[in-house]
Amino acid sequence: TVHERVDTFHDNDQKPVGYGRMLRKEDPRFLRGRGRYVDDVQLPGMLHLAILRAPVAHARIVSIDTSAAEASPGVRAVVTGAMLAQQGLAWMPTLSNDVQAVLATDKVRFQGQEVAFVVAEDRYAARDALELIDVEYDVLDPVIDARRALEPGAPLIRDDLEGKANNHCFDWETGDEAATEAVFARADVVVSQDLVYPRVHPAPMETCGAVADFDAVDGKLRLWSTTQAPHAHRTLYAIVAGIPEHKIQVISPDIGGGFGNKVPIYPGYVCAIVASIVTGKPVKWMEDRSENLISTGFARDYIMRGEIAATRDGRILGIRTNVLADHGAFNGTAAPVKYPAGFFGVFTGSYDIEAAYCRMTAVYTNKAPGGVAYACSFRITEAVYLVERIVDCLADELGMDPAELRLKNFIKPEQFPYTTKTGWVYDSGNYEPTMRLAMDMAGYAELRREQEEKRARGELMGIGIAFFTEAVGAGPRKNMDILGLGMADGCELRVHPTGKAVVRLSVQSQGQGHETTFAQIVAEEIGIPPADIEVLHGDTDNTPFGLGTYGSRSTPVSGAAAALVARKVRDKARIIASGMLEVSVADLEWEKGAFHVKGDPGTSVTIQDIAMRAHGAGDLPEGIEGGLEAQICYNPSNLTYPHGAYICVVDIDPGTAQVKVRRFIAVDDCGTRINPMIIEGQVHGGLTDGVGMALMEMIAFDEDGNCLGASLMDYLIPTSLEVPDWETGFTVTPSPHHPIGAKGVGESATVGSPPAIVNAVVDALKPFGVRHADMPLTPSRVWDAMRGQARPP
Ligand code: CDP
Repeated sequence: TVHERVDTFHDNDQKPVGYGRMLRKEDPRFLRGRGRYVDDVQLPGMLHLAILRAPVAHARIVSIDTSAAEASPGVRAVVTGAMLAQQGLAWMPTLSNDVQAVLATDKVRFQGQEVAFVVAEDRYAARDALELIDVEYDVLDPVIDARRALEPGAPLIRDDLEGKANNHCFDWETGDEAATEAVFARADVVVSQDLVYPRVHPAPMETCGAVADFDAVDGKLRLWSTTQAPHAHRTLYAIVAGIPEHKIQVISPDIGGGFGNKVPIYPGYVCAIVASIVTGKPVKWMEDRSENLISTGFARDYIMRGEIAATRDGRILGIRTNVLADHGAFNGTAAPVKYPAGFFGVFTGSYDIEAAYCRMTAVYTNKAPGGVAYACSFRITEAVYLVERIVDCLADELGMDPAELRLKNFIKPEQFPYTTKTGWVYDSGNYEPTMRLAMDMAGYAELRREQEEKRARGELMGIGIAFFTEAVGAGPRKNMDILGLGMADGCELRVHPTGKAVVRLSVQSQGQGHETTFAQIVAEEIGIPPADIEVLHGDTDNTPFGLGTYGSRSTPVSGAAAALVARKVRDKARIIASGMLEVSVADLEWEKGAFHVKGDPGTSVTIQDIAMRAHGAGDLPEGIEGGLEAQICYNPSNLTYPHGAYICVVDIDPGTAQVKVRRFIAVDDCGTRINPMIIEGQVHGGLTDGVGMALMEMIAFDEDGNCLGASLMDYLIPTSLEVPDWETGFTVTPSPHHPIGAKGVGESATVGSPPAIVNAVVDALKPFGVRHADMPLTPSRVWDAMRGQARPP
């Protein structure tokens, strides 16, 4: 149990401190409906844009007749791909060095692809006119199943790419194939399992949209958009549109959830920009729910074979995997350039093994561009699912308790920093206490006894464990860049004369509470209360350059930048204080919020006194400029590696096959904790996401490529009814290279919870001889699993 008071930022001595539970500064505006989202932006004379989307998955465009739409009341412009092509704007680069059609010119390659757009005086007129655009399609066979994409004779999707003869996207491998082969050859036990991580959608509450306002007089483009990476987007617009960067301002106001969905640049943003340039008016484009679900960045879609080799007494020797990755019609993944499969290389998990190898083939299919890092650090979700499922399969094969097997194989604390067999350097970790705490909180032994009794009565109860190590905080820039932009973050801090401050971040919050936690980081370092620190983000004209928020990188990268920029300000404050107190710098001691003379605590100046002196009358020490501010760019030396132990308890109704998550225990270790209340909120959200993926969510397609998950009636996301009261705990293993020892946490729960839930369901189904069933474990899938196997209970 954690005894921490919410809404306190004073310790017992009433000195201002930074870290701890503190209500979110942004909540008063969100709770009162005073948030300002893209769709709240209203500009004088603003027009509205609607996009015509392909009704079929694969077809050649024979002709497009826009005359009736142009004549429709209120319509100002109708634009097709052919028109964009005349300006060289029909195609744009993706964040993965592929190209994607802004509007289709030759073919449509997935259902929902952008074909034309209408700009009209209001949203209704624009939508009505879409119906009047007459497109003739010559329908082609689609490729929907990734397993068939490379078959001889499969229809070629990307005939726009020169020299392309099939639907191959890329190959990737990691680890040592021969060494892995050798450990598999001498292992007592080898277990292999096919697993599918289905295509899911991040489905943020707010869909994507933009308001573009191009001023033809000063040549400046202002773009309000739902982006998780405003600075990176600005640079790409500059490169594509040829508008210089200083003439582009990207403003990312309040965002209603991103989860990776708002990292890519979507055709809609580009269309809004083109429309504003063409009409000379501000133009708003806002997706509806179906558009978001059928056309914007998908996640997962990995077909995996996992293999694990071990000794008979449960020592894991090696892990091997073969992956078929479905990237959709355009490779829209946002991952560092050198990592086309993201950070999937961490599939060796939290275990000290001898060898590992992965081979991956990625293919194009007639589905929307996929591969975004949905609440995960670039494919770590898939990797953690793979390893945590096959470890459970091994436990089953060995007849060993899955907790015992994990404890036996963990990387030991003294082995950190630990280099994995695929080359990742885990910065720190102490896994056993985290696992033991989760087991204690769950009452693990008691749960197993209860399960035995229930099994004897024919009841289906399952206990599932997952233990994960994440890798979050991309850079460093020498290894990681997106389209040539290094993954480092800027931060700027200004302390005003009266001792209030403003910190400007390059990352952009989508609801994670950055306005609170970044104020806390700065408060901890310079002793100004968080309430007196304003956090600015999401406006490229007013914040330093950086790569944006995704993959839980805000705290590891920008959080470090905020701490270091505050220390830089504090160093200057110390010199000014030495002048004020007429002692040398070495004779000063820092206590939160003030410098005092060593051995004389009564002789002190507060940070507020120093701020006034920095700006006010009176001399400053020699060589010190006025003002109290600093700017830095932080390039992380490594990723941070948070970990966690999750235990899930499920009951399955044998009559309906309905899974109920009865309990879920989550122990997270994200190093130094800035705001435990916000961390718990992040964990609760991620666990809920995990229940969705494990039990409910899948974007399915029929054989013609029709998307079957185009509304929230069909694509089920969890509500409070489907989730239990979460039981959270924590351990603290600080990152040794992060200035405040913090690791990211935003995505840990989304990454770690699906395997815990699936392991629990499979455990419940053991009496039927079930060893695996693929997500989502809907009643019909669980029913099939029960019936497909021999013994009823
Ligand atoms: O990049 P993103 O903000 O999505 O993820 P994060 O860096 O893991 O942070 C999510 C939220 O949890 C932020 O408000 C962080 O400041 C907070 N957090 C924290 O209080 N302590 C940590 N050790 C890590 C994150």
